[in-house]
Amino acid sequence: MRKNIVAGNWKMNKTLQEGIELVKELKDVLAADKPNCDVVVCTPFIHLASVATILEVSNIGVGAENCADKVSGAYTGEVSAAMVASTGAKYVILGHSERRAYYGETAEILKEKVNLALANDLTPIFCIGEVLAEREAEKQNEVVYAQLAESLFDLPAEEFSKLVLAYEPVWAIGTGKTATSQQAQDMHAYIRSVVAEKYGKEVADNTSILYGGSCNPSNAKELFGCPDVDGGLIGGAALKVADFKGVIDGFKA
Ligand code: 13P
Repeated sequence: MRKNIVAGNWKMNKTLQEGIELVKELKDVLAADKPNCDVVVCTPFIHLASVATILEVSNIGVGAENCADKVSGAYTGEVSAAMVASTGAKYVILGHSERRAYYGETAEILKEKVNLALANDLTPIFCIGEVLAEREAEKQNEVVYAQLAESLFDLPAEEFSKLVLAYEPVWAIGTGKTATSQQAQDMHAYIRSVVAEKYGKEVADNTSILYGGSCNPSNAKELFGCPDVDGGLIGGAALKVADFKGVIDGFKA
């Protein structure tokens, strides 16, 4: 059966020292009070090796926030999937709306990134989600369908099964405006139905679909209580141990 996962996305926050401090504290807190879900922290590239070393003997996974769409070579400033994997990281966020919007990441580019991540045994956390105008025009399902189909649906079922999906409505990211649990459930059920149509019910039932967008300790329990919401991708609330722990505890009775 699919896993429940709470993953933090630090975005461009925390110096190396601040990041190290945070994961040391998180490690202690989650060793003392074991989570009822998988926990992952996705950090800036330069933090990965240090964070992965600290978390090596822990119940917390490590991921990057991006990787290159090329294998290696003359791509100044880029970081390859193989480099990410060599730090000990096991996950990589791909297709985040901020990367799509500010760094021109297209469906084609994301397809390359997903292939390279999988080839390097990284689990992509693949983000999809509509902007406000698309939601207001009731086009959210077709937008999300296109994002899935254009970047992922060329994968064989065996490879697709290795992905984690994250539905992040862009209008809910960093705005404090969370999707209602009904909106989240409706979209997650839709995503699962689309995956079932393409890859069959078993693959769909085993795919973890996370919700992201202003998820915090006060709304996590209700969101995670939805049958098709298998956890969260957490921005702001992942930057403080108490808040992140509060979200993780959304899976506790
Ligand atoms: P916030 O939790 O800050 O809204 O960010 C969500 C997000 O973009 C996670 O990837």
